[in-house]
Amino acid sequence: MFKEDLLKGKRILVTGGGTGLGKEMASHFASHGAEIFICGRRENVLEETAHELEKKYKTKVHYSTLDIRDSKDVDSYIQTIFDTGPLDGLVNNAAGNFISPTKDLSPKGFDAISNIVFHGTFYVTHAVGKRWIEADHKGSIISILATWVWTGSPFVVPSAMSKTGLHAMTQSLAAEWGPYNIKVNAIAPGPFPTKGAWDRLNPNGSDDKNLESTPLGRVGEMSELQNLATFLMADGCDYLTGQTIAIDGAQYLTGGGTFSGLGKLSDDDWDQIRSMIKSANNKDKADRKV
Ligand code: HXC
Repeated sequence: MFKEDLLKGKRILVTGGGTGLGKEMASHFASHGAEIFICGRRENVLEETAHELEKKYKTKVHYSTLDIRDSKDVDSYIQTIFDTGPLDGLVNNAAGNFISPTKDLSPKGFDAISNIVFHGTFYVTHAVGKRWIEADHKGSIISILATWVWTGSPFVVPSAMSKTGLHAMTQSLAAEWGPYNIKVNAIAPGPFPTKGAWDRLNPNGSDDKNLESTPLGRVGEMSELQNLATFLMADGCDYLTGQTIAIDGAQYLTGGGTFSGLGKLSDDDWDQIRSMIKSANNKDKADRKV
């Protein structure tokens, strides 16, 4: 979809880039010439991913363990990167989530998620953004959110609350940091199955029926998400900022309309409905005096 050297010369950090969506986006950036930085809590997966991508795409891939919940560790990690040169892009991908009835959550359970998603993402964004501003360096930020930022979502309340906060951060910083040539966008992916997310959000496979009811009748293909992230990371669309872009096959919109369920009706059902409506109309017409 893009020319091979689209991201050549760019240095991009993907938090949680060792696995899942983060690894997929890091791979795509690497395949388009970017130098990659990945961080996360598990050294073995980071090391494996870094070696795999370096070998495959012949580009530099740096890795480091980091828990983004620790603001001091975040700041010193970002400083070590900037000591070797500024980043050009940041993908806030690291997250934590699990499904649970909200009444059964302990305060520690709430904190486990909100400290990663809400606090940790801010720490990284702040550490990178302030250095860009100081160095007068152009930058692009993408945060991986969810369509829950518009609808809320039962059973994942700490994540929905935290990601909605990051949606507000995206809009707010686009305005505040626009003058510094920093664009701030977000992607709200629908169902893109990855092991990390599906183990925690669909552990018994019960979501399959929901997926069939998405207008496109399927889950997302990783290349579709990769293309959107690369588009937002590249030069050439700098006027696009402050946006959270859903890529979900219109799944979340089907939940919003009163008549969303009608997508399941057959032509025969519709014939029957049309004739029922027509006879109701005809009855009304017959009663009219004017
Ligand atoms: C209820 C739970 C729980 C569960 C953990 N807790 N799992 N409570 N139901 N299933 C509670 C624990 O009991 C404990 O509270 C508290 O949370 C902290 O648990 P720890 O395991 O000690 O936390 P920690 O090691 O910090 O791990 C954080 C985590 C974990 C969020 C719980 O799942 C994690 O590290 N996840 C990272 C990867 C991930 O989640 N990926 C999916 C992202 S999907 P008590 O009080 O008992 O001590 C995503 C959106 C996808 O972000 C959108 C798709 C459409």
